[in-house]
Amino acid sequence: MTNIGILAGSLRKTAYSRKVADVLANLLPVQLTPTFIEIDQLPLYNADLDDEHSVPAWEKFRQQLDQVTGLIIVTPEYNRGMSGALKNAFDVGSKRHNHWKEKTALVVSSSPEATGGFGANQQVRQVLVTLNVIPVQRPEVYLGHVNHLFNDQNLITNLDTISFLQTAVNAFVDLQAKFIAAPVERVD
Ligand code: FNR
Repeated sequence: MTNIGILAGSLRKTAYSRKVADVLANLLPVQLTPTFIEIDQLPLYNADLDDEHSVPAWEKFRQQLDQVTGLIIVTPEYNRGMSGALKNAFDVGSKRHNHWKEKTALVVSSSPEATGGFGANQQVRQVLVTLNVIPVQRPEVYLGHVNHLFNDQNLITNLDTISFLQTAVNAFVDLQAKFIAAPVERVD
């Protein structure tokens, strides 16, 4: 069984990022098991505390990252960037050793504004480069007017939107298959 980590970059209980993450998790094929990884209990990264005893919440988070081969990251946009909580999660997971590396990722941004969190999405992609995470290049997913997408059951009813999200998830699944499932030994 292959585990996929699902991260929502907002701490709000009723966050649109979380609702979008739920929808995306449900679009995965049965062979890929979604595992929600929470970032709300992570203290701000401080290298002074990151010795062999470290901070239990950081260690738990790192272990959760180690158990997944791919990531679906849904980011809100705060002041044209990602939330501080999501950036902190990237920082925590990158230390002791880089717990993000060589995973694949689907990056999705959402916002009530028409721009769909473009700035945050690009910022997340920039951080993924340095963490050696392989993102789905296209389609790029910027969900604008997200406050109008969900019905009372937190479902997206617009078929075009669902179809687009399924296309994005399928691109992620294909990337998983290429980079993770069939490793080829190289000649050193
Ligand atoms: C925002 N919001 C926002 N939206 C946007 O499209 N671009 C932006 O730069 C910002 N900036 C911003 C800063 C801060 C501090 C907050 C709290 C909010 C609005 C934001 O998109 C909206 O509150 C979303 O609902 C937040 O995402 P979640 O929590 O619903 O996932």
